[in-house]
Amino acid sequence: AKQRTFIMAKPDAVQRNLIGEIMQRFERKGFHLIGAKLMNVPRELAEEHYAEHKEKPFFGELVDFITSGAVFAMVWEGENVIATARNMMGKTNPAEAAPGTIRGDFGISMGMNIIHGSDAPETAEREIKLWFKEDELHVYEKTI
Ligand code: CMP
Repeated sequence: AKQRTFIMAKPDAVQRNLIGEIMQRFERKGFHLIGAKLMNVPRELAEEHYAEHKEKPFFGELVDFITSGAVFAMVWEGENVIATARNMMGKTNPAEAAPGTIRGDFGISMGMNIIHGSDAPETAEREIKLWFKEDELHVYEKTI
């Protein structure tokens, strides 16, 4: 089914000029970009986004990293985009991510792993609402 997912190029990706590389992979795969913004992340937003990890030992480090520089937040739309994007990203730990995946090709460490993507339909809905207003999302007309 047609889905939407929240994808974020993390501060390491932005610093290393990898935004275009990441977007090109999603475009070539056939997904449509329906929202995007380069932004600094307020601490409260980072904590809300990563709320499920609040009790983890790396939570502080994770929030520090995501608020350390600009991120590029995106919403992508397409057939089965949530799981497909996760496959394109590769495993969370870049050391285990297969070559050819985004993290496998560019990731350095568990923390600096380039990209975030929603892991399920409920998560995608929650994250898109958290990061974007409805009027920031583009609706494609059936012209092509
Ligand atoms: P992400 O997909 O953004 O979701 C949670 C993030 O926590 C994950 O990517 C990793 O970047 C980060 N993470 C997971 N485990 C660890 C860890 N052990 N140490 C530091 N960061 C971690």
